[in-house]
Amino acid sequence: ITIHKAELVISAPDRHSWPESDLPEVVLAGRSNVGKSSLINTITQRKKLAYVGNTPGKTRLLNFFNLNDQYMLVDVPGYGYANASKTMLKKFGEMMEDYFAERTQKRGLLLIVDARHKPTEDDRLMIDFARYYDLPCFVVATKMDKLKRSEIKKNLNVIKETLLLREEEVLIPFSSETKQGVDEVWDELLKLFNS
Ligand code: GTP
Ligand code: MG
Repeated sequence: ITIHKAELVISAPDRHSWPESDLPEVVLAGRSNVGKSSLINTITQRKKLAYVGNTPGKTRLLNFFNLNDQYMLVDVPGYGYANASKTMLKKFGEMMEDYFAERTQKRGLLLIVDARHKPTEDDRLMIDFARYYDLPCFVVATKMDKLKRSEIKKNLNVIKETLLLREEEVLIPFSSETKQGVDEVWDELLKLFNS
């Protein structure tokens, strides 16, 4: 796929600001600093479409990215960083619940985890949340460039087991550094977008 257009439509604090659109949407969620924005830039071959930072928790709103006037990718704020306040956590939960419950054009969830670490309780909650709403999911293990060869198999298994991945929920090894997995991510995205 060639991305000839990729633009941020809106950063929405709540459902009143979701864009009016009938493009199919895939939501991209993961822990803070895991590499969500980097993945968006990598798969769209843009350098700074999505903001990449060293300060965790930079993305606080739902960012809607229009790709080729065909698809919408929705970047979710990273969860799980240490100094999130109770108020922010509550707001995050409400925002996601609104989205999952009300957004009719949603087609799936891309959950990103760090290939180096066991997924957290928050990751489990996120994927279970999507499953509860019957939203198809797939998982991307990013930062594969940081793994030693000997760790690859073991780490991917830990991710599968911790998230209790189902047969149809594929796990894709990925790296924004080496571009490993870009084609596989697009294959899964297109399946969801066209479903
Ligand atoms: P929040 O928006 O704060 O939730 O973060 P995010 O999930 O969008 O992460 P972001 O893409 O901003 O990346 C966080 C840090 O990880 C940056 O310093 C990136 O350069 C780095 N990073 C992202 N992906 C990779 C990768 O595949 N490999 C390596 N080595 N570093 C990565
Ligand atoms: Mg981000």
